[in-house]
Amino acid sequence: MSARQACTVAPYRSEHIEDAWLIDRLCFVDPWLKRSFIEELKAACALNRVAADESRVLGFCFGRIILDEYTIHRLAVHPAQRRHGIAACMLQSCLRHAALRGALCCHIEVRSGNTAALRLYEGFRFERIGTRTAYYRAGGEDAILMRCMLDTPRPGQSA
Ligand SMILES: CC(C)(COP(=O)(O)OP(=O)(O)OC[C@H]1O[C@@H](n2cnc3c(N)ncnc32)[C@H](O)[C@@H]1OP(=O)(O)O)[C@@H](O)C(=O)NCCC(=O)NCCS
Repeated sequence: MSARQACTVAPYRSEHIEDAWLIDRLCFVDPWLKRSFIEELKAACALNRVAADESRVLGFCFGRIILDEYTIHRLAVHPAQRRHGIAACMLQSCLRHAALRGALCCHIEVRSGNTAALRLYEGFRFERIGTRTAYYRAGGEDAILMRCMLDTPRPGQSA
C-alpha cells in the first residue's frame, strides 16, 4: 500500500458538484447525470461526504438513511489518488455519522468482479448477505449485497 494521503472528510456541498461529477465519469461505466449531483444536495435523508485536500475533491461517498438503515449508493476515489486510504477514510466517517443519526446497519451493492471494493468493505466488517444474478445492465455482472452492523454511539459522543 502507498503512503496515506493527507485529506479531510467533509459534508458534500454545492462547490463540490463539478469535481464529484468529473470523478464519477472517470470511475463508472454508468456515470450519473450532473443533475443527480445537484439533486443530492436537496435530499433530507442523504448522508453525503467528500474527501478533499486543500484545493480539490479526491473522492465522494453518497448514501441515504431510511429509518435505521444507511445505504451507500455511490463511492468513488479519483483514479490518480487510489491506494492512499481515502475511501477508507470516507467510509469510516460516513459509518460513524450514520450511527450518530440512528442507523443500526449499512447496506451496499457491489459488482462481483470489483475486487478493490469488496476488499474495502470486508475490511470494515461488511458481510455478504445475498447475490442478485446478472444485475448490472452494463456487463451483466452479479451484484453482491453486503451489510455491516454499526457500532452504537456512546452517550455524549458527537460528530
Ligand atoms: C474502490 C475504491 C473506492 C477504493 O478507493 P481507495 O481510496 O483506493 O481505497 P483505500 O486506499 O482506502 O483502500 C482501503 C482498502 O481497500 C482495499 N483495496 C483498495 N483498492 C484495492 C485494490 N485495487 N485491490 C485490492 N484491494 C484494494 C484494501 O484492503 C485497502 O486496504 P490497504 O490499502 O491497507 O490494503 C476505488 O478503487 C474506486 O473509486 N473504484 C471505482 C469506483 C468503485 O468501484 N466504487 C465502489 C462501488 S461499490
